[in-house]
Amino acid sequence: MINSKQIICALDFDDFSKAENFIKAIDYDIVYKVGMEFFYRFGIDGIRKISNAKKNIKLFLDLKLHDIPNTVERAIYPLVTNVRPYMLTLHIGGGKKMLRNAVFAATEASKKNNIQKPLLLGVTVLTSLNNKDLQEMGHTISITKSVENYSNIAKKAKLDGIVCSPLEVKLVKNMHGNILKVITPGIRLQKSSNDDQSRFLSPKEAFDMGSDYIVMGRPLINALDPNNIIKKIINN
Ligand code: C5P
Repeated sequence: MINSKQIICALDFDDFSKAENFIKAIDYDIVYKVGMEFFYRFGIDGIRKISNAKKNIKLFLDLKLHDIPNTVERAIYPLVTNVRPYMLTLHIGGGKKMLRNAVFAATEASKKNNIQKPLLLGVTVLTSLNNKDLQEMGHTISITKSVENYSNIAKKAKLDGIVCSPLEVKLVKNMHGNILKVITPGIRLQKSSNDDQSRFLSPKEAFDMGSDYIVMGRPLINALDPNNIIKKIINN
């Protein structure tokens, strides 16, 4: 049985009040993802405001942090203290030390504020990159092998999970089982010609493959009845 908390809705709205109204209209306890665009446009105040749209809201702060270990560590304290995210992303490409410092900072800041530590999620290879792009940057191994290596680094650094494409879920689950949670975007309810997600899975396929969480943007935010879609996913 799928729990509503395993459904992450990407709040990819260009208008703040639309995002706020959407959250208010949802009857289920799901996770809401805000990314870089939202954060740079509306700032910490915007995040605070959106988190007041609902009591005990679960926010996924998809900022994909990537810098030297000291900078990321110091950025995490105010983020955790002020935003209190449920989930937070970092690029695994920042290296094991950066990830370890991030885990340390998130743990410390959570203790200090007496809140639950956010789930720290690593981004492997961006799905916008292909093998040719990697070669151009001097990498001599395939994307699949890179994802394997990156997921090992995530595990060693004690991240809670990784974000990966539907094509990589099985690989990561076979390697790490439940030690790393897997979050998968690229979810569609049915095939749509007018779409940029060329490789996708249905919610059921993604969960059957082992995804712990699915990320859905447009299929939910553009739906006439998003509550009914969530209900169907849970009851499937
Ligand atoms: O509208 P859609 O369901 O495609 O939205 C998916 C969300 O997940 C968007 O916020 C998008 O930026 C994000 N995402 C993705 N593919 C990735 C990583 C993130 O679609 N590989």
